[in-house]
Order: sequence, then structure tokens, then C-alpha cells
Amino acid sequence: MKNLVVRSARSFDAAEVANISRRPFAARWSREAYAAEAERADSIFLVADDGTARGYAVARVFDAEARLLDMAVLVDGLGVGRALWAGLLSRARARAAAKLSLEVSSANARARSFYARVGAKVVGRRPKFYNDGSDAILMDLPLE
Ligand SMILES: CC(C)(COP(=O)(O)OP(=O)(O)OC[C@H]1O[C@@H](n2cnc3c(N)ncnc32)[C@H](O)[C@@H]1OP(=O)(O)O)[C@@H](O)C(=O)NCCC(=O)NCCS
Repeated sequence: MKNLVVRSARSFDAAEVANISRRPFAARWSREAYAAEAERADSIFLVADDGTARGYAVARVFDAEARLLDMAVLVDGLGVGRALWAGLLSRARARAAAKLSLEVSSANARARSFYARVGAKVVGRRPKFYNDGSDAILMDLPLE
């Protein structure tokens, strides 16, 4: 995508991010929740922006671990997810995180193949963790 930048989210991004977040498998937080996230010191909240928001990612850093809480793009398959992932890795490293961890539904085939493609490895599974009966698949990427 042309002129795509990955930058830290600001509270004014919250409406666009909340809109992208309505898609299945995204976290669907409220606009207010995304605005509050942009103010948190322990958060890595990124927006991929080419004039409008094309995608976002939210991770929180705790105890040398960056935990991905939410990530979605407006249109699949354009490289926006990969750009956000690269931004997450560099910012997580800059905060001395030793790994990036995440949880994905076994029903979310697209995200599972995306995370595998960008180097995350399956490290665990919680059977029937989600309300739809799907498993939670735990994945990690070491950052050393
Ligand atoms: C998961 C998601 C963020 C991926 O973002 P994206 O912008 O489509 O991903 P990209 O276009 O950057 O693709 C990155 C790589 O993953 C690969 N990939 C993505 N989907 C794939 C699929 N279904 N099958 C095979 N490979 C796939 C791409 O080929 C690409 O590899 P390459 O760069 O080596 O060619 C996006 O699909 C999304 O927003 N899904 C809905 C919300 C969601 O599921 N969030 C995750 C919750 S845990």
C-alpha cells in the first residue's frame, strides 16, 4: 500500500479503530475504550494510516512480555497486518519485552495462518475456551 505509516494511536483515532474492530474476531471495544487505551503507559497501540486508518494493533507490556490483545485491518491481504506486526515487534523490543504472546480462536483460520506466516509458534491450547466452543490457541514469538 502506498504511503502507509505505522504510528502510535492517539485518542482521536478511537472512532476509526472502533469501526474496524466491528469485524468478526476483532475485540469490538467501544470508542471510549480505545481512546483510553491510547493514554495507557503500558500499552503499545498502533495504527496503520495512509490518510485514514487501515488497521490497528493493541498490546500491553507486563513483566518482559508484550501480550497482543486485539488486531484487525480494514481490508485483508494488502500487507497491513504485516506492517503492524513489524511495528509491534520493534516497539516491544524497545520496551525490553522478551516475547510477544497472543491468543487466537481455533475457528479463526485466517488469523492463525497470518500469525504462523509472521513467525509466531503455537505454545499451548485451551479447549473450548470461547463461548462458540472453539479452542484458544496460544502463540508466542521470542524477541531476542
Ligand atoms: C489477521 C489479519 C490481521 C491479517 O492482516 P492482513 O493485512 O490481511 O495480513 P497481510 O496482508 O499483511 O498478510 C501477511 C502474511 O500472511 C499471509 N496470510 C494472510 N492470510 C492468509 C491466509 N488465509 N492463508 C495463507 N496466508 C495468509 C499473507 O500471504 C502474508 O504473507 P506474505 O507477506 O509473506 O506474503 C486480518 O485478516 C484481520 O484483520 N482479521 C480479522 C480480525 C482478526 O482475526 N484479528 C486477530 C484476532 S486474534
